[in-house]
Amino acid sequence: GAARLVVAVDGPAAAGKGTLARRLAAALGLPYLDTGLLYRAVGRRVLDRGADPADAAAAAAAARALAPADLERGDLRGPEADRAASAVAAIPAVRAALLDWQRDFGRRHGAVLDGRDIGTVVFPEATVKLFVTASVAERAQRRWLELQGRGVAADPAAVEAELRERDARDAGRAVAPLRPAADARLLDTTALDAEAAFAMALALVRERLGERPA
Ligand code: CDP
Ligand code: CDP
Repeated sequence: GAARLVVAVDGPAAAGKGTLARRLAAALGLPYLDTGLLYRAVGRRVLDRGADPADAAAAAAAARALAPADLERGDLRGPEADRAASAVAAIPAVRAALLDWQRDFGRRHGAVLDGRDIGTVVFPEATVKLFVTASVAERAQRRWLELQGRGVAADPAAVEAELRERDARDAGRAVAPLRPAADARLLDTTALDAEAAFAMALALVRERLGERPA
């Protein structure tokens, strides 16, 4: 059929969404969009102006002014960017400003997108929806290892506390909260390495595509 293939990959922080989505995109020959980067870049713009990321007017202005170069910044990862992203992400005007951008990206050639609300809000009509999870202890361990790899010393307990806090805010907000779409396939990767998670995800995608009329 003419419909573009859209794969939605949602889930909590450090579940392995990005790693998985990037590999799926390569395997399926589709563009990949890390939608978390959009919220991170908006958060950074607000911090640059010396404003509070929870300030709705400042965050909305930053979202409307977002430019492609903002996504190339080198300071979009780390605890400060995590917090700022999650704060601006709770503001409805910010989400509205980023919506068309995400939809245009996916509609052009199809895409794999990862985030929190891809299957529920951005692409409710996505061909395949995956909800990737892992225990909070496992996710904290993964994020801690990532920080280590980047040469950032971090306290494991603090990393876990930050993850819990961000998940609670992402799941508790009024607009586009983190939750699996009714038709999402759940993929618990607690006991899976990235390779095994990818193999399972690809099998779920192929199964879904087999059901889809050509
Ligand atoms: O995008 P998200 O924050 O959900 O996760 P990520 O940026 O892909 O980071 C996940 C980290 O856990 C990476 O360092 C992966 O190598 C590792 N990992 C994984 O992605 N999947 C597994 N099943 C196990 C580990
Ligand atoms: O990589 P990690 O899972 O830690 O975070 P991310 O995917 O880069 O997202 C950063 C923050 O942006 C999240 O904590 C959410 O608050 C927000 N976000 C969102 O609200 N909706 C999305 N589609 C993607 C990210």
